[in-house]
Amino acid sequence: MSSHDPGGIGAGAEHGEPFRATETSFDKQPREAEMPGGGVDEPVSVDVADVHPSLADPTVVAQMVAAKRDVRAQVGEPLLQMQDVTLKFGGLTALDSVTFDIRRGEILGLIGPNGAGKTTCFNALTGVYRPTSGEVLFDGASLGKRKRHQITQMGIARTFQNIRLFNEMTALENVVVGTDARHRTSVPGALFRSRRHRHEEREGMDRAMALLEFVGVGGRATDKARNLSYGDQRRLEIARALATEPKLLCLDEPAAGFNPAEKESLMDLIRQIRDDGYTVLLIEHDMRLVRGVTDRIVVLEFGRVIADGTPEQVTTDPAVIAAYLGVPDDAIA
Ligand SMILES: Nc1ncnc2c1ncn2[C@@H]1O[C@H](COP(=O)(O)OP(=O)(O)O)[C@@H](O)[C@H]1O
Ligand SMILES: [Mg+2]
Repeated sequence: MSSHDPGGIGAGAEHGEPFRATETSFDKQPREAEMPGGGVDEPVSVDVADVHPSLADPTVVAQMVAAKRDVRAQVGEPLLQMQDVTLKFGGLTALDSVTFDIRRGEILGLIGPNGAGKTTCFNALTGVYRPTSGEVLFDGASLGKRKRHQITQMGIARTFQNIRLFNEMTALENVVVGTDARHRTSVPGALFRSRRHRHEEREGMDRAMALLEFVGVGGRATDKARNLSYGDQRRLEIARALATEPKLLCLDEPAAGFNPAEKESLMDLIRQIRDDGYTVLLIEHDMRLVRGVTDRIVVLEFGRVIADGTPEQVTTDPAVIAAYLGVPDDAIA
């Protein structure tokens, strides 16, 4: 596991029972809980305006959050290209000649029944797995044999189907870790706390705070990640991924475990992220949800692309409806 890889902390397969990172054991730390002032785990709500007065203005938040990276592709041109990607696990072909593009500035939905290969696709394009054959091109360059942290630096960030956060760090620290990936200070520079390093550190904090505010958890900045609600942890993961200033943000079932109202509000956030200049790849199980937010949808079934088009085209495609086992459209979840 690379220590330079905030976009891919503890990455690996996404199998087994979904777990909730909120599983905490307060009785492991009786001393802390007895500390004066209620102990370290007492939730405190922070007013961002106290920390950083200009963040009270949503337009300032939006400006600080907006993508600033140089991207070679123009809006609408392919940013990422999966070209004939096959990925085998022993005898199992998880991806079978998968070809599709993600265009700059769009929200692309990647959908399909359980086991269709969605997460494997993510893992192939974030460098967790190497394709058995085929190629992934990103912003004009092949991902080839690049390592995960190099891929993060190229501008691909992701969240996980199972939440992965630094539970003992505060929400703010979790996001600052992401901004570190973009810093240019050398190690000696950081050790001797050069002016540039201090400047980057300050900038990192400000941006992290703006990102927390943007995703809607600004008030929980100083709480340990594990004390955030499940929904807030999901939002925090998105803030951390955005902190690396990705050209492409990949979200693996970010609304898993949400109720319909929470799902809707998360989709609003994803739309806002796109409007701020990011390109988004969204894995989602719930076809109805994806239809409302995506610009285009790619459908996988048994590792193959069975449809690629507008939400209209795809959700009325008989092959897609059959893949979802003929369940009436509005019952698909
Ligand atoms: N690391 C792995 N080792 C073996 N098989 C795997 C591994 N990861 C995924 N698979 C298999 O690949 C197929 C696609 O899985 P996955 O990409 O997780 O599907 P989805 O995310 O669409 O539910 C499944 O049959 C799964 O069991
Ligand atoms: Mg999956």
